[in-house]
Amino acid sequence: MGMRQSRLAALAGAALLATALPAQSVPLPRIETRDGHHALFVDGQPFLLLGAQANNSSNYPAMLPTVWPVLDRMGANTLEIPVAWEQLEPEEGRFDFAWVDTLLAEARAHDKRLVLLWFGTWKNTGPGYAPAWVQLDRKRFPHMVEADGKPSYALSPFSRTTLDADKRAFVALMTHLRDKDPGNTVILVQVENETGTYHGPRDHSPAAEKAFAAPVPGPVAARLHRSGPWAQAFGRDADMAFHAWAIARYVDEIAAAGKAVKPLPMYVNAALTAHATGWQDPATYASGGPSPPGLDMWKATATHIDVAGPDIYNPDFTDYMGFLDTYRRPDNALFVPETGNAAPYARYAFAAFGRGAIGWTPFGMDASGYANFPLGAEKVDDALVDSFALPFHLFGPLARLWPRWALAGKTWGVSEPTDPAARHRQEIALGPWKAAVTFGQPQFGTPEPTGNPTPSGGAAIAELAPGEYLVLGAHARVTFSPTDPAADGLTVSHVEEGRFDADGRWMMSRVWNGDQTDYGLNLTDRVQLLKVTLKRAR
Ligand code: DGJ
Repeated sequence: MGMRQSRLAALAGAALLATALPAQSVPLPRIETRDGHHALFVDGQPFLLLGAQANNSSNYPAMLPTVWPVLDRMGANTLEIPVAWEQLEPEEGRFDFAWVDTLLAEARAHDKRLVLLWFGTWKNTGPGYAPAWVQLDRKRFPHMVEADGKPSYALSPFSRTTLDADKRAFVALMTHLRDKDPGNTVILVQVENETGTYHGPRDHSPAAEKAFAAPVPGPVAARLHRSGPWAQAFGRDADMAFHAWAIARYVDEIAAAGKAVKPLPMYVNAALTAHATGWQDPATYASGGPSPPGLDMWKATATHIDVAGPDIYNPDFTDYMGFLDTYRRPDNALFVPETGNAAPYARYAFAAFGRGAIGWTPFGMDASGYANFPLGAEKVDDALVDSFALPFHLFGPLARLWPRWALAGKTWGVSEPTDPAARHRQEIALGPWKAAVTFGQPQFGTPEPTGNPTPSGGAAIAELAPGEYLVLGAHARVTFSPTDPAADGLTVSHVEEGRFDADGRWMMSRVWNGDQTDYGLNLTDRVQLLKVTLKRAR
């Protein structure tokens, strides 16, 4: 049995076990935090979410045959897919669970976990997935008002009627999951999709104006150490901060009501600013969403939302690292709910999982024929899927182990840089040791790294014990050395290739020596796990 087969067998075993047990004895998925590090637990064990998100309109049973083969080829263990308010409640008060039921049954049959994306009041900030009876009745379901008094395209976060209607539908969904998904095929729920508003930074409806003139509400003021009316408390960020509070409060109430029925972990996804840091004009991004400028407000307000995750469609190396570092916080597990599916994005899996990401998910991974180029790939074909299969097949067999090491803060990862100043090189500091990761060298000899023909390299390291490291990667060379160049003695390294058995025991298949170690550890397109032991001879 190969690594992949044994993993599938283990997953199938876990799924069988889950369905055989009475509902209450299957532990709910949860996010655990220790010393500022995080891990997602599924079935009571750490679980690395190797995700694929389907295209928006693949949320109908007829499309699922275009979805599963792509996930299988990629080695994804989790499908993210929408459940739209318009399909769940096509007429007010009449709920239709046919889609959810088909999805649950097929996901189980295909050994996949699910992340449900609740497309409700907001999908990419607009109301497109709200049912017609909501969209067509602007009196009952009012839109925001722009600064000049004109109606906005977006629904208002100050409408109690809209909030109650969305909440009722979401609670119906969570009730259905409580009753029909005792084994937790669904492990996470996304509440709304890319909230915020483009063009105008906030709502100017009468209710909004009144709230804007009032002091920042107590709990939020205390958490963010700001007080007084919004304009005073937040200065030039007041409109954005106020809008973030208004939307976060709305989304939080929906999440809280859903969790009261079935307390699955819940998250929100962020349409991002152009860059992770530095002030940016709210007219240039979805103001009020959980993007970097709104993140603190979201964390302070939406306390029933476990995680805010970045949707990263910016291929620039420095920006990508900036977004990962912005969303990886002691109070926020790093989770990338969407990222571009063009091949150069595949290498970012190493930087994300190395930073302890609980999950990472390329978007648009189905064979429906749609491709969101230029955000992502021009075409989703086998070759494209295979570029993501490489990191996923490396991390796949570690899905129950890697997050354990990440929770202890013992994982690191880098991706191939494109910034010329980086000179095709990254360094990982490991205390007494450091690892240089270089890109674009032959496996033999030590010429200067030139970078891969297209950026495709990455490497990740986990510390298993002092001086003992697990190394995996793609299209990269990893070279260990002592951190202190003046340290006495010579480094002796022992390198084994192998795998972990079902009990997490290392099973060596061979020792790497000679050409295979003389010029560093050369990682290619092979699925290889290496265990490196470093010692100083005196
Ligand atoms: C981000 C959204 O969250 C997705 O649903 C999708 O619309 C992509 N943008 C673009 O393909």
